[in-house]
Amino acid sequence: MLASAMTLMRTKADFIRQFIRNPRHMGSITPSSQALCRAMAQEVDWSAAHRIAELGAGDGVLTRVLLQNMLPQSALEVFEISPPLVQKLRRIDDPRLQVRDCSAELMEGHYDVIMSGLPLLSLPPQTRQAILAAAHRALAPNGVFVQFQYTSLTQADLSRYFTWQRRRVLRNMPPAWVYRCTRHFRT
Ligand SMILES: C[S@@+](CC[C@H](N)C(=O)[O-])C[C@H]1O[C@@H](n2cnc3c(N)ncnc32)[C@H](O)[C@@H]1O
Repeated sequence: MLASAMTLMRTKADFIRQFIRNPRHMGSITPSSQALCRAMAQEVDWSAAHRIAELGAGDGVLTRVLLQNMLPQSALEVFEISPPLVQKLRRIDDPRLQVRDCSAELMEGHYDVIMSGLPLLSLPPQTRQAILAAAHRALAPNGVFVQFQYTSLTQADLSRYFTWQRRRVLRNMPPAWVYRCTRHFRT
């Protein structure tokens, strides 16, 4: 029991160190659970997902689940601003993966799917709006944007750009909401 707790702490050490340095950017002291990653992946039709982005990839816990679900010919571009976590992501050996060491609002591609673990609520409001506007621009007309959050407090921001449905995932610390967002064209 103690040994497995120590192993868990070791594998999450980079993430926890980054949280201590910059809690507002990290938003959470530990990476997402497998249950949360699976719930996010279940929101996607993988047979139609060719160009995928992940915003705020952290230590790659969700990245690995995305790579498991993706078609062999699909491509995944991930955005992460923490240099040690970028290094960790670059160690994932998969030719479909490209790691961008810049803020998510600088995304310029066109994507069928955008997955996000960004802590929207703790980001400065201007950054939050810039990221949501960039995601809206980058998402294909029939694309899907999947964002998890720990509270409902960013719903008004999501509603400016997207139509969404949400579901609760209890098996995560803390429990989370998974928002499945699609574009609306009123903005
Ligand atoms: C809550 S963690 C989520 C990490 C991982 N996706 C997971 O589910 O465990 C949020 C991540 O977003 C990154 N981040 C924060 N602001 C960002 C930004 N503007 N652009 C890209 N990444 C950002 C942080 O460095 C952190 O790794």
